Amino acid sequence: MKLHVFVHNQAVATLESPDGFKHVMTYHESVADTQFTSLLMPVRTESYVYPELHPMFRMNLPEGFLLSILQEELGPHVGASPLNLLAVVGRNAIGRVKVAPANADPSQAPVAFEVSEILRGDNSEEAFVRLVRRHAVSGVSGVVPKFLSNALGEHKKGTLTTERLIIKGTTSRFPGLALNEHLCMEVARRASLPTAKTDVSDDGQALIVERFDYDTSTQTRLGMEDLCSLLALRPEQKYETTWERIVNRIKDVVTSPEHQTKILSDLADQILLTYTLKNADCHSKNVSLLYRSKTDIWLAPVYDMLTTAVYDDYAKNPPGLSLGGRSTWKPGKSLEIFLQTRCNVRPAQLKQRIERICEAVVSVTPVFPLYADDSFSGPFSALTVLALGPMGRSLHRAEAACSASVSVTTVAGSKGRMV
Ligand SMILES: Nc1ncnc2c1ncn2[C@@H]1O[C@H](COP(=O)(O)OP(=O)(O)O)[C@@H](O)[C@H]1O
Ligand SMILES: [Mg+2]
Repeated sequence: MKLHVFVHNQAVATLESPDGFKHVMTYHESVADTQFTSLLMPVRTESYVYPELHPMFRMNLPEGFLLSILQEELGPHVGASPLNLLAVVGRNAIGRVKVAPANADPSQAPVAFEVSEILRGDNSEEAFVRLVRRHAVSGVSGVVPKFLSNALGEHKKGTLTTERLIIKGTTSRFPGLALNEHLCMEVARRASLPTAKTDVSDDGQALIVERFDYDTSTQTRLGMEDLCSLLALRPEQKYETTWERIVNRIKDVVTSPEHQTKILSDLADQILLTYTLKNADCHSKNVSLLYRSKTDIWLAPVYDMLTTAVYDDYAKNPPGLSLGGRSTWKPGKSLEIFLQTRCNVRPAQLKQRIERICEAVVSVTPVFPLYADDSFSGPFSALTVLALGPMGRSLHRAEAACSASVSVTTVAGSKGRMV
């Protein structure tokens, strides 16, 4: 099977696997230098041959829940080869690159999507599974459902990407997940970190995330590559790296000193936030670069940020990525040293940043009573009660994390505002 690769809906390359193992991407003749498919694959005449699928294309392959839904809908063969999977989902990718079979129109819109249905409607696990089924196979004709059983509950999380939004379902294994993520994102926003816009459905079961890989001024997609892909790791190896390697790869890929400085400074904030909120799920797929060109490049806003420590299964998990050779929530001086030496954050600045994040944590906590308002439906109130405990606990952990690295007077001073 030969697939076509598009940048901004313009065909730029072909992708095939002649022997079923190695994969070959070949740019068409006369493709402009600006139309590269990955920061790791500049336009050139020689083909790019990888032993497996190229990291950039692997980045968008569905895993877990979505993969199992696709296999149910389309047959188990769909997961058998990465090219088969790409042929199905490659038009619904994150970033500016799409992949589609011959004759398919890359710009064809997926199934119409009504966000108000999500915000106001039923987002139970069953409804979410139905939605993903309907949406995941959009654009694929002649499809007959094969078997219908799978529930979201078996999977850790469920995420569905649409043209402008990402919809994340809640599973019974992680009660309050949508609200947890929304509030952690609110902490990021209040700490003035660039952050994806989020909203929670009325029933508290779904998180709606606005996609930031879309340039509203030009109405085109931005390039986006996560650090897992940029480190040429397979998605399942997303934890198998370190913050040091992430910083080094950013320095390799971002050549302009000015952009490099800004990206590392923003990364420092994201790392501090990860430690403050105790997000053990922060791995190399949850850090990305966005770009308009090879030289106009920046760190993607905060996304997939949540407090994992509140779930019993995760409570004892260390940070997903190590720093200074250790994976611990009490990094002591090593976090400070890392941020100063690798991300160029000055000591005085570091203190201010930590204070800003801790203030944000404290200010988000009193938001809970608003969510507990009687006007919310039954399940939401129940969920609020569930969430109140965890976030309260997480706040104390956040304080502990903050004071572990640098003593923060602000948090102590703000205690009166805590609920
Ligand atoms: N706001 C966003 N805009 C564009 N792409 C996003 C956004 N948020 C997440 N992504 C992409 O979608 C993928 C899945 O989203 P994420 O929130 O990480 O879900 P999950 O909890 O399933 O890991 C991410 O790895 C990233 O590539
Ligand atoms: Mg993620």
